[in-house]
Amino acid sequence: MHREAVTIRVIPMVLDSEQMKKIVAEAAVEEYVKDGMVVGLGTGSTAYYAIKKVGELVANGYDLKCVATSVRTEEIALSCGIEMVPLNDVKKIDVTIDGADEIDPQLQLIKGMGGALLREKIVAAATVKEIIIADESKIVEKLGTLSPLPVEVLQFGHVHTKFGLELQKCNAVLRMKDGAPFVTDGGNYIYDCRFDGIDNPFFLESRIDSMPGVVENGLFLNMAFEALICTSEGEVKHLSEGVKR
Ligand code: 5RP
Repeated sequence: MHREAVTIRVIPMVLDSEQMKKIVAEAAVEEYVKDGMVVGLGTGSTAYYAIKKVGELVANGYDLKCVATSVRTEEIALSCGIEMVPLNDVKKIDVTIDGADEIDPQLQLIKGMGGALLREKIVAAATVKEIIIADESKIVEKLGTLSPLPVEVLQFGHVHTKFGLELQKCNAVLRMKDGAPFVTDGGNYIYDCRFDGIDNPFFLESRIDSMPGVVENGLFLNMAFEALICTSEGEVKHLSEGVKR
């Protein structure tokens, strides 16, 4: 009897970005958060899943004290039953799990599209192991190619601060929300600075930080201990090259 050849097509599973965020966030919490730790909780849609997972650990009996990187994160964490402490009440944070907007091969980052860069940087500086979680879309060869660089500025004279930022060869756009300037948890504005790639992030950071009116910039240089990256196939990769801590 004649049989027709049957072609079996293997359809690869491709995860959507929400699934990738959840996988990578949960993997980071499982790997890094241990009972008794002080934990920094990041801000953003990826960090959200990490906060939820930390909440599960607490519900299962873990004794954790957590520090928030934003008002929004604190609200989510409290709703998950997590004990929150002010940063000033702890000597150091054992591990912080936070997202990023761009990650380069040396583990240098752009953060702040979620508007929390100032507190995120203060918390990261107080942290022993800053763990970055992201889906693979955040990986870049060079910073400043996908994301603008968020810069938090004082409201006073912010238009003049913008002029100063644009001397660094970028287009600085005031971040808006609901028809008005977006105001950070610190009461400041943010300029999203679009570069055509950032050749020397260390030099740029020193230039931006020296400008009157600048409160903080979204370059997180030599701050990450490791980045966990979820691919669209659901594999979690560890990026720890270039760690300088
Ligand atoms: C907030 C941040 C976030 O970590 C960053 O914007 C990534 O957010 P998301 O996980 O939603 O893409 O820096 O200030």
